[in-house]
Amino acid sequence: MAQNDFASFPKEYEDFKKKFLEISGIDLNYYKHQIHRRVHMFMRRWNIETYDDLLKNIKSDKEKYRTFVDYLTINVSEFFRNPDRFEILEKEVLPLILETKTDRSIKAWSAGCSTGEEPYSLAIIFEDLRIKRYPRILATDIDPNVLEKAREGVYDIKQLQNVTAERLNKYFIKRTQNLYEISQNIKDRVEFKKHDLLNDPFDKEFDLILCRNVVIYFEKEIKEKLYLKFRDALRIGGVLMVGNTEQIFGYREIGFKSIKPFFYQRVK
Ligand SMILES: C[S@@+](CC[C@H](N)C(=O)[O-])C[C@H]1O[C@@H](n2cnc3c(N)ncnc32)[C@H](O)[C@@H]1O
Repeated sequence: MAQNDFASFPKEYEDFKKKFLEISGIDLNYYKHQIHRRVHMFMRRWNIETYDDLLKNIKSDKEKYRTFVDYLTINVSEFFRNPDRFEILEKEVLPLILETKTDRSIKAWSAGCSTGEEPYSLAIIFEDLRIKRYPRILATDIDPNVLEKAREGVYDIKQLQNVTAERLNKYFIKRTQNLYEISQNIKDRVEFKKHDLLNDPFDKEFDLILCRNVVIYFEKEIKEKLYLKFRDALRIGGVLMVGNTEQIFGYREIGFKSIKPFFYQRVK
């Protein structure tokens, strides 16, 4: 299949998006145009010629469906991704949040948590800072496959390159030469749930929300709506941490104060 074959068939692609929404609940219209290219890349990889064949394939073969969704939603992650940001979170932002609390409890949400590296990194910091164990950190993703993997909590050494030797020793169990499992006490601090940021309701009164490397795939208007929803999900004084390539333009109008690069505090 030539790269641009489908670019001249927008109607077929529109139909495909509708049918895919019925099967998966994922609305590809909300995602940037690159998603179109990813659909094509996937089709080339599996030698699939038409959108109808793609639909047939993912409907009849559960494994193919899973691979396709994994591929579209791009769930790359690692522990303490952008370690300098996690250091600011631990040393500056969390103490700021704790100052406003009467007990050492923090209601936190990792939105778009992928295979769990992000909420577990947060849980490790919480454990070290002796943050209360309840409420547990909420960790959500649209993709059930990554959540399954997150609950298992087994990781290749490559994803642990930012974990200090001390933390590796304390919070991981070596399973094989290259595989490490996160310890049960860290697992117990996190609750994984399937949740679609674009369609499902948000809980409220969070002290901290991490949404990193998720909105980069969304269209501008969708992103803006999402930031308003995150603001409403935070208590006043609560903080939203975004990814290292993400900046919230017009954060003041939304009701945020920028307290550090990539950290926004709800002020109204
Ligand atoms: C690149 S990963 C980010 C993982 C982690 N936050 C990090 O920064 O390392 C993006 C995740 O967003 C999830 N995602 C994509 N669309 C979503 C949606 N509408 N609702 C919830 N999660 C979504 C994907 O399934 C994927 O696991």
